[in-house]
Amino acid sequence: MIKGKKISFSAIQPSGNITLGNYMGALRRWPTFQGDYDCIYCVVDEHAITVRQNPADLRHHSLELFAQLIACGIDPERSILFIQSFVPAHAELAWVLNCFTMFGELNRMTQFKEKSLSHADNINAGLFTYPTLMAADILLYQADVVPVGEDQRQHVELCRDIAIRFNGVYGDVFTVPEAEIPKTAGRVMSLQEPEKKMSKSSDNENSYILVMDSPDVIMRKFKRAVTDSQAEVRYDPEQKPGVSNLMDIYAGATGLSMEEIRRQFEGKGYGEFKTAVGEATVELLRPVRENTLRLMADKGELERLMKTGAEKAAAVSSYTMNKVRKKVGFLPR
Ligand code: TRP
Repeated sequence: MIKGKKISFSAIQPSGNITLGNYMGALRRWPTFQGDYDCIYCVVDEHAITVRQNPADLRHHSLELFAQLIACGIDPERSILFIQSFVPAHAELAWVLNCFTMFGELNRMTQFKEKSLSHADNINAGLFTYPTLMAADILLYQADVVPVGEDQRQHVELCRDIAIRFNGVYGDVFTVPEAEIPKTAGRVMSLQEPEKKMSKSSDNENSYILVMDSPDVIMRKFKRAVTDSQAEVRYDPEQKPGVSNLMDIYAGATGLSMEEIRRQFEGKGYGEFKTAVGEATVELLRPVRENTLRLMADKGELERLMKTGAEKAAAVSSYTMNKVRKKVGFLPR
């Protein structure tokens, strides 16, 4: 990697289809890091199996997500883009880090507590040690910054604690990373229950927009979006959660301010407003969807990119892994 530039590491789970919420809240800003950092982007399929997956679906989601990241603007020549399970060093370092992470630390993780409730029939050890695998992802590449959402702050903090502990014993082995969390959350709410976050795991498919939804599906879902009985486009998340969410989406897609949006739709009905939000969303997602479809039509090229990405990742990670092996006292191979 180019000396002097800081390293950024981002990762996303291939646990389902990507929504407008995922795109606006996270994916959209990922390519922008490529100017300031040497960037590493990872599709974390090993994290995904901490909850039960259908194997064929997981393969499809991993491949499609890999294509979508390129479609969003990640340049696989300039950055390192790869699939986690292609690089065995992740699982290898995770084991070592497990031995430098306390039971009590993992037991405090709020995501573990939440997932133990939502997957009460499968509270497996991988779910518990999920944060040490995540720490391995980050520390293998000596990442300086980790762009994540607020929900991952605690995991990045734990990663820092593990790195500091390890360095305390063995000297400077790992770069201690910083979380990079956007100030404005860019949270997109459900179109049907606007008090809840937009989620692909909802039973009602009208509640979420998928990045791969066709334009007519997007328009239909926005037409059915829940609003209120006031017929007034005004930003008030408390009193008018549905309309405010649509305004957030419209602002996110067009760059307009809330005041500009209010003026644009003054005296107009919700029908016209919803059509405008739908059209703006279609145009926002169009390049991502179309580029993804084009990439997915050439599996050979995707396979080549996955292979070269993994080779680059393996080369960087082996530097760290060799150091770790030596420090902890493994015999040279
Ligand atoms: N836990 C992250 C999430 O669910 C995904 C992730 C795995 C990750 N490894 C990472 C994020 C390393 C940043 C860095 O969003």
